[in-house]
Amino acid sequence: VRAVILDMDPGIDDAAAIAVALNNPGLDVKLITTVAGNVSVDKTTTNALKLVEFFGKNIPIAKGAAEPLKKKFEDAAAIHGETGLPGYDFPTPRMEVSKLAATEAIAAELSHSKEPMTLIATGAYTNIASFIKQYPELLVKIDELILMGGSISGGNASSVAEFNVFTDPDAAKIVFESGLKITMIGLDVTLKALISKETSDQLVTLGEAGKMLHGIINAYGDVHEGGKPMHDVITILYALHPEMIKLRNEYIDVVTEGPAIGATVADILHRWHAEKDFNARVGVGIDAAFFNKWFIKQVKLMN
Ligand code: BDR
Ligand code: CA
Repeated sequence: VRAVILDMDPGIDDAAAIAVALNNPGLDVKLITTVAGNVSVDKTTTNALKLVEFFGKNIPIAKGAAEPLKKKFEDAAAIHGETGLPGYDFPTPRMEVSKLAATEAIAAELSHSKEPMTLIATGAYTNIASFIKQYPELLVKIDELILMGGSISGGNASSVAEFNVFTDPDAAKIVFESGLKITMIGLDVTLKALISKETSDQLVTLGEAGKMLHGIINAYGDVHEGGKPMHDVITILYALHPEMIKLRNEYIDVVTEGPAIGATVADILHRWHAEKDFNARVGVGIDAAFFNKWFIKQVKLMN
């Protein structure tokens, strides 16, 4: 069983990722931290609480950064709705958020843990970057940092930048330069594994959790030919079944200014870094049919 900390901005695909992570016995979710991204941090925190309560779990939720490190905050309410979690009527959450802020909560969790833990980040990396700066001595406790974000083949926030990196490029730069073992699950993978209409239609038949996911995925504005990407869910698939994602070692530099701000540049021709050097394992391939079948199986585990 893999012990994980989830850092997220729920968000519809983040919510689906939480749903899978909380209900798969292969993962032990120790903490969820929230960040501003798809919507404000107050809203992403409320949404995380809604999910954890929906599944009746007792997992601490710590609120993180309300703003990127330097860049002006811009949300993605156009895609995830004003609340960040439309399409299902959740009761108002009763659970309270942790007294610790996200970075302190991550530090506390890692310092108490005897085993190394995996960090999965599916929002802007603001909390993770602050944690790296404030607690460098704890980085040895992280066996892998799995990121949803970035792209080496074109963006979704601009023609070159993916949304999570675009939201806080300065944080992303700190993260990619941290020396942590980074696996980047970016658009190069997530756009290759769309949830088909057939899969999302099937969800309504799969109990209350299936209805909830059907509702939120229906309301999701990230529409592509062939279906909707469940970007953040792929990090959870990877954490459970790393062999299902084809990876490539690359040196990633993050652009923090100008029209290419938020781009994750892979040094494919080794112009800037030595051939043997890399700072990330970049996901480039996935079997979409497998992903759809796997997702349905995960939903069956939820009831
Ligand atoms: C990423 O941006 C967010 O809108 C999604 O939740 C996902 O994490 C995709 O680019
Ligand atoms: Ca997200």
